[in-house]
Amino acid sequence: MNREQAENRIEGLRNEIRRHDHLYYVKGAAEISDQEYDRIYRELVDLESQFPELVTPDSPTQRVGGAPSAEFPEFVHRVPMLSLDNTYSEEELREFERRIFRQVGERPLDYVTELKIDGLSMALHYEKGRLVRGVTRGDGVRGDDVTPYVRAIRTVPLRLHGPGVPDELEVRGEVYFPRSRFDAMNREREAAGEEIFANPRNTAAGTMKTLDTKVVSKRGLDIFVYSVAHVRGTRLRGQWEALESLRAWGLRTNPTSRLCHGLDEVLAYIAEWQDKRDSLEYDIDGVVVKVDSFALQQELGFTSKFPRWAIAFKYAARQARTIVREIGVYVGRTGKLTPVALLEPVALAGSTVARASLFNEDEVARKDVRKGDTVLIEKGGDVIPKVVQVVAEKRPPDTQPWEPPTVCPVCGTAVVKVEGEVDRRCPNLSCPAQVEERLKHFARREAMDIEGLGEVLIHQLFEKGLVKDFSDLYDLKDRRDDLIALERMAEKSADNLLAGIEASKDRELRRLLIGLAIRLVGDRAAALLARHFGSLDRIAQASVEEIEAIYEIGPKVAQSVVDWFATEGNQRLVQRLKDAGVRTEETAHAERSDAFVGRQFVLTGSLETMTRDEAKAAIEARGGRVTSSVSKKTSYVVAGRDPGSKLDKAKELGVAHVDEQGFRDLLGKGISA
Ligand code: IVH
Repeated sequence: MNREQAENRIEGLRNEIRRHDHLYYVKGAAEISDQEYDRIYRELVDLESQFPELVTPDSPTQRVGGAPSAEFPEFVHRVPMLSLDNTYSEEELREFERRIFRQVGERPLDYVTELKIDGLSMALHYEKGRLVRGVTRGDGVRGDDVTPYVRAIRTVPLRLHGPGVPDELEVRGEVYFPRSRFDAMNREREAAGEEIFANPRNTAAGTMKTLDTKVVSKRGLDIFVYSVAHVRGTRLRGQWEALESLRAWGLRTNPTSRLCHGLDEVLAYIAEWQDKRDSLEYDIDGVVVKVDSFALQQELGFTSKFPRWAIAFKYAARQARTIVREIGVYVGRTGKLTPVALLEPVALAGSTVARASLFNEDEVARKDVRKGDTVLIEKGGDVIPKVVQVVAEKRPPDTQPWEPPTVCPVCGTAVVKVEGEVDRRCPNLSCPAQVEERLKHFARREAMDIEGLGEVLIHQLFEKGLVKDFSDLYDLKDRRDDLIALERMAEKSADNLLAGIEASKDRELRRLLIGLAIRLVGDRAAALLARHFGSLDRIAQASVEEIEAIYEIGPKVAQSVVDWFATEGNQRLVQRLKDAGVRTEETAHAERSDAFVGRQFVLTGSLETMTRDEAKAAIEARGGRVTSSVSKKTSYVVAGRDPGSKLDKAKELGVAHVDEQGFRDLLGKGISA
């Protein structure tokens, strides 16, 4: 492969990975298996190591995980929270050991094997035996300080006890949602007509962010602690001793962990839990294998991403065979048509499966899935499984390849397919399927979080014509009697619902933006837009260029925002929301200065009265943007002590520059144009 081909391939792989990261972390709905993901990820790592000059700081290989969310105080981890390299076979595991031998010489090794719990990683900080802090992993470097919520997990000890409790201790563990509680909660929600949760892991993460300690406590989240990140005042010689000490001090460790002498015992543990995994109270996605000795761990050290002394052995997702009765088409809130396999019900990993995702028409064509086919389906962490492949030899003689629909299956409008996009869309904004899906989205926890308004109820409201779009929700207070007349509704539940709707009027602008379901505007873009513009009106008036000037927002998102606000129906909708009293301004918006908006700043040298992060935050809060290199587009170079070549470049290009005092003046006054 030559450099140009590599460059193209790298770009393609990065986009793929970003898309899958978003689907997995933000949407909680992966389209591909972990193995497939790892394959493309590894291809990217390989290519980047062949062409190191093509590595950019924004490559997915250069970061550890999701970004911290805005609502919690940020905490910088004392030791980064890394992830583990994955293997899928005995051979790869043996290679892991050979790598260790090459580094430190061949010798008999003890390993600790632990189940890899599929939850949410968390750091717990203890000082003099008292719990002082709980921090999520965040992006591995900075996490969210969620201390009050961690305290609400009943098995997290607030005080350690027993002999040898260290002065300082930071442990890491996995918060998870016990399966029986998760199922019970979903049953209750279903009965109450509320949206059910897709999987325990994402629900555990969501629960920690509900900002309500009572909810955390009621839902019964739990934790297993599995490592010591920092300790002072006690000496620990290895992982096994650490686990025993943690347990003795009152922390909850997983009882299945085992000290293994040599790799054969490790493999036996892996095989044992492969068979027994369905009997557990929690989801696992593999086994973590750790070199026991801390001295050896230290000698082995880390690669840029992973420890060299530990590895995750991932189990393959559980699979089953069944027959495709029909290929259905689901219409989403943006009009996107998604093919779905409707299946002969089959038991898989503890539940009965009757539908599986086919993702998009290219996937159906690639796998050539047809009505009547026998298919292999697979379940990862999510409730909705996917079709892996067709069992070719089982195909009946008279099947036909699937034809994507030319009209919307719900409203009959001719569908459109935009050049370069995989999905077909129903272009009819008033298509009942879209309207109903938009309503569901609006009420969702991540958006306006309307208590008591679940999917089943929305369906009823919609069917009965009580709401046609989400602004109608705010008129429901005048139709209390109609509400009470609905199935499974009574005076009290109707009043609760109305109170929930009323309370949603005061949600942050970010949430309203998510709720509006503007295409391509997810959580992150919504937060950036809200922070930058501060009000819905300002966003509505912004040009593509102004929106694109926000760091991290690309041209497609900017165009989509402008298009959305340019649509007359949407303008009416916004007006109706405002008339109903829905908040469309960010309350605590910083001292924006119009003169900063859209301007690029470069910081160089060290500032005395503020850190670089503070300077950057101050610029961004006023609507400006900080970039790293000086060009003609740069509006200002802020030169601190020992500025170096960037200041020279600014002078050369005739770009304005200020010293620290000048910068402080600008912040105080705004720039005079
Ligand atoms: S040890 C240096 N042990 O898996 C990393 N991790 O891919 C040390 N996990 O972020 C991690 N169970 O959230 C470790 N027994 C276990 C685990 C475990 C689950 C998660 C954890 C970590 C991820 C690593």
